[in-house]
Amino acid sequence: MRETILCDNALVAAEMLCRGQLVAFPTETVYGLGADATNSDSVAGIFESKQRPSFDPLIVHVPDMAAAQRVVVNFPLLAQKLAEKFWPGPLTLVLPKQAQVSDLVTAGLPGVGLRIPNHPLAMEVLKAVGRPVAAPSANPFGGISPTTADHVLDGLGGKIDGVLDGGPCGVGLESTVVSLMIDQPILLRPGGLPVEDIEAVIGPVHRAVSDPLQDDAAQPAPGMLSRHYAPKTVLQTIAPGDTARPIRNKICGLLTYGRFPCAPGFEQIQRLSESDDLRMCAANFFARLRSLDSANLDVIIARSFPAKGLGIALNDRLRRATSV
Ligand code: TXA
Ligand code: MG
Repeated sequence: MRETILCDNALVAAEMLCRGQLVAFPTETVYGLGADATNSDSVAGIFESKQRPSFDPLIVHVPDMAAAQRVVVNFPLLAQKLAEKFWPGPLTLVLPKQAQVSDLVTAGLPGVGLRIPNHPLAMEVLKAVGRPVAAPSANPFGGISPTTADHVLDGLGGKIDGVLDGGPCGVGLESTVVSLMIDQPILLRPGGLPVEDIEAVIGPVHRAVSDPLQDDAAQPAPGMLSRHYAPKTVLQTIAPGDTARPIRNKICGLLTYGRFPCAPGFEQIQRLSESDDLRMCAANFFARLRSLDSANLDVIIARSFPAKGLGIALNDRLRRATSV
């Protein structure tokens, strides 16, 4: 056990990171568990505290394009277009890494996932650290991503050195990950930036699909594990327009949105948005899922989302939360 302190401000967090400590900080997507990406001991500490398998690479965070350029061998034209349009923001680009980026960060892969986050505190931290910061979501591996400092403490309190509290995250879903390692852009993870927005800038993006018959370690991209972002409670989904009904003899909770019908008998109902606003649904998603997960229910029934815009990423998180 170590003592996890609440950092008073971004400069305290940055100093701790420079000393090699592990500090969680807010971004617009979810809270990240930061470590100096150039310090192998610190990076190893991320894997240890999260109990994360070493084949799952970490996203490197930088404050600006100049810092981004220093981490990669080259910035292909498509990457430049995306960076110009969407950085800072919820987009991670996988690009050919410089030799000095540690294999621990990229899990031995030739590409590095890179992102400039759109959050004033994250920006302050990154500028003050002056080195790239590796940061996965600040939760134990496979669990629900944290969108508040309290969520971070729930999962990693006593295992990391500090947390910088920036209130709830605005986007609420992890970044969209796109690989530009070959000419054809590949979507590795749908996320907080709708893939349609990306395609409007660079044309068609190939969707990497994980193969449910394959062993997790053999998936096309690391991090495409079938079970991930998962509550401890069993979760079942229903189609967007279906009437939600509790299961007989089970204590059931409901995760829903808008004005869709639901039968009586649910122990707890969490509504992500009063309307069908997918942005609002995304911003509230992990916090509401977490709250249902701590309510001692037998089953959580979740209404799935229309398969467009942020609905694609939300459905992806639901699918992985239901996978056994
Ligand atoms: O929004 C986010 O992306 C948050 C915040 C903190 O920035 N971070 C995050 O990190 O969600 P994490 O570790 O939970 O998810 C990172 C995923 C990996 O599982 C993998 O799918 C992909 O990003 N990734 C990262 N680096 C990669 C690489 N070099 N090659 C392929 N995929 C990579
Ligand atoms: Mg994660």
